Amino acid sequence: MPAISFQSVSKTYSLAHGQLKALDQVSFDIEDGEFFGLLGPNGAGKTTLISILAGLSRATGGKVLVQGCDVQADYAQARRKLGVVPQELVFDPFFSVVEALRIQSGYFGVKNNGAWIDELLASLGLADKADANMRQLSGGMKRRVLVAQALVHKPPVIVLDEPTAGVDVELRQTLWQFVAKLNKQGHTVLLTTHYLEEAEALCGRIAMLQNGRVVALAPTSELLKSASSNVLRFKIDSELPKALADKARITGRIVQFPAHNAFEIEQYLGAIREAGLHAEDIEIRKADLEDVFLNVMAGKSAGAAVLNTDGPVPDEADSTVREAAGMGVA
Ligand SMILES: Nc1ncnc2c1ncn2[C@@H]1O[C@H](COP(=O)(O)OP(=O)(O)O)[C@@H](O)[C@H]1O
Ligand SMILES: [Mg+2]
Repeated sequence: MPAISFQSVSKTYSLAHGQLKALDQVSFDIEDGEFFGLLGPNGAGKTTLISILAGLSRATGGKVLVQGCDVQADYAQARRKLGVVPQELVFDPFFSVVEALRIQSGYFGVKNNGAWIDELLASLGLADKADANMRQLSGGMKRRVLVAQALVHKPPVIVLDEPTAGVDVELRQTLWQFVAKLNKQGHTVLLTTHYLEEAEALCGRIAMLQNGRVVALAPTSELLKSASSNVLRFKIDSELPKALADKARITGRIVQFPAHNAFEIEQYLGAIREAGLHAEDIEIRKADLEDVFLNVMAGKSAGAAVLNTDGPVPDEADSTVREAAGMGVA
């Protein structure tokens, strides 16, 4: 039985000036014990999907099961199986850290939970803040408490919605060590993040959402293989000729070209020289998840491996992916 099953999940918001389709027939399963990444640009629908999973928002169509329990029909049972760390920092300002955790524990009917609460506090670097009032905590510390609250009933399925957005490196590392340990112990993890290097390092499989649709879904290793193997990166002071610029990713002075082999790299550098331009700080690196992500979002180079074959794929997304599969890297 999958840990999470999204079955044709749709969500339409009614706005003053019309309707917004935030999710359109999203279908995929996350297996027990997976460390699964859900990626997508702002507004793609990640938080909406997680809110429906957590029972905080109602799907317009389709259904979601957590270990076989329908999140609407069996709300209480499904909710107990889930630990959700929300994207927004929501907290009750009247309690201390340890009180907040005890209350949450009580909410799930878990008794004698002191040892686990202590372990959570220690593992998340909160031990010396146990008696601090929630109001006194910094944003990063509040984030740690939210993680502890989500885990207080030892849920088999852990969902983290951008848990590291705007938090310091130390918390990111503490958090990932702890979550990776829980995953090794058998907990399923669903993670959304903007830090693609985190997703690349942690997630065994990744789904990419765009405009409420799944546009890629594959093991992380397959996604990485679908990109060209290398990226040529350098700095330049003047503008590139259009023919070259069209093939590059340009961020300020930094220019990056996807390249499959040494010959392509030589060709790019030759073209730069012929254009009378001077490239500095030349570097060749392996393609990473960010390259794949940008390709997929641009409708390029999805590659056969990233087709979502599990569920019904809407026609339009399907043809985009099919087209892209034949294109290779532009
Ligand atoms: N409560 C809401 N009412 C109306 N529109 C919403 C609401 N929540 C989210 N949206 C819209 O739905 C889309 C998806 O949002 P969201 O799920 O937050 O995306 P993500 O988490 O991927 O950034 C966005 O266009 C957002 O503006
Ligand atoms: Mg979000």
